[in-house]
Amino acid sequence: MEKKPQESRQDLGRREGPPAARLLLAVALTNALLYLCLDRFFISPRQPPVDPRHCPHGHFRMGHMETCSPWLSCEALRAEVRPLKRVGEGAVKRVFLSEWKERKVALSRLTSLEMKDDFLHGLQMLKSLQSKYVVTLLGYCEDDNTILTEYHPLGSLSNLEEALNLSKYRHMNTWQHRLQLAIGYVGIINYLHHSPLGTLVMCDSNDLPKTLSQYLLTSNFSIVANDLDALPVVNHSSKAFVKCGHRELRGDFVAPEQLWPHGEDRPFHDDIMPSYDEKVDIWKIPDVSSFLLGHVEGSDMVRFHLFDIHKACKSQTPAERPTAQDILDTYQKVLNSLQDTVMSQTREML
Ligand SMILES: Nc1ncnc2c1ncn2[C@@H]1O[C@H](COP(=O)(O)OP(=O)(O)OP(=O)(O)O)[C@@H](O)[C@H]1O
Ligand SMILES: *[C@@H]1O[C@H](CO)[C@@H](O)[C@H](O)[C@H]1NC(C)=O
Ligand SMILES: *[C@@H]1O[C@H](CO)[C@@H](O)[C@H](O)[C@H]1NC(C)=O
Ligand SMILES: *[C@@H]1O[C@H](CO)[C@@H](O)[C@H](O)[C@H]1NC(C)=O
Ligand SMILES: [Mg+2]
Repeated sequence: MEKKPQESRQDLGRREGPPAARLLLAVALTNALLYLCLDRFFISPRQPPVDPRHCPHGHFRMGHMETCSPWLSCEALRAEVRPLKRVGEGAVKRVFLSEWKERKVALSRLTSLEMKDDFLHGLQMLKSLQSKYVVTLLGYCEDDNTILTEYHPLGSLSNLEEALNLSKYRHMNTWQHRLQLAIGYVGIINYLHHSPLGTLVMCDSNDLPKTLSQYLLTSNFSIVANDLDALPVVNHSSKAFVKCGHRELRGDFVAPEQLWPHGEDRPFHDDIMPSYDEKVDIWKIPDVSSFLLGHVEGSDMVRFHLFDIHKACKSQTPAERPTAQDILDTYQKVLNSLQDTVMSQTREML
């Protein structure tokens, strides 16, 4: 038993074979090399399972930092962070491009004390959900209502077309990279639906521009979730469902179960508005993905291949919609198979 592996290794060494076989081997090796070279021109869908840049809880690392640093305290935030200019504002936070130790960072300040609960919820989520899916937290000060995060110069996903129009990024404006962005987006939703805190719903997303504004585009063209101020938890086993806000929602961007079900004649009352689950996020995925795919050569071909899964996302019955994981698997399959098609076409041309 023990000898077997050794025997077969010796076997291989001894076997030299006739010249024809060696020629075949050389051809196969050349092909394999060509394959590897071709592969470099396309996006590799394989990702490492663990983030090697991971820091222990309460610590961060960004850019070219060699080691992990603890989150900045109130004292450090006050003494070391210098706001430079305002780069964004929403209902809860005013965001400033700032400087910390000659690095660019983003300082968020609470806009109004009325929003403090949302602000603290968002901070709690940022602390708990630090991962490759979420913007890096650098520090916070509850007394001053400030949060410090990694700065992403491309800003939110709303700026995607402008970013892809910059000369530096124009080569990224292909269906491959755009589908990769959609995979990143669905990956974030999948993470939130299986988060360490349970199934979280991305509530602050009642229309497309609002939804896009909650995610940031990183310099290497991936997406991170940034605004986590409204992430209620669903628990199917305890029948705990959620409502995204206390006001009436309208339009077809939100899921049908988020609309007032009792007709125009009966005025909206939050008390009798039914609650719902994370499948509201699934309903919105086709619209976000379609925005991400945009209108470049190949976008419509990708849309065609995603037609069935997107149709299932728009099922009127929430339980019939696929999970984020199902969608992720389908997107990945479509990316792989379309890339294989492109590669075999390229190979035919050679
Ligand atoms: N780290 C960052 N780097 C670059 N831009 C950022 C960063 N954080 C926020 N911004 C910009 O500021 C905008 C508002 O940020 P954010 O969504 O956190 O505010 P908010 O008040 O919580 O929004 P909402 O109205 O959705 O509650 C973002 O859409 C983005 O354009
Ligand atoms: C993303 O870009 C940063 C620099 O902005 C770099 O340090 C990091 O390694 C990149 N990450 C990946 C996954 O390429
Ligand atoms: C893209 O950039 C060019 C200039 O380089 C500009 O004329 C054009 O309006 C831009 N388009 C968009 C969509 O931003
Ligand atoms: C969901 O509810 C069940 C039953 O009440 C409980 O045991 C479980 O811990 C809850 N899960 C989460 C993630 O809160
Ligand atoms: Mg926001």
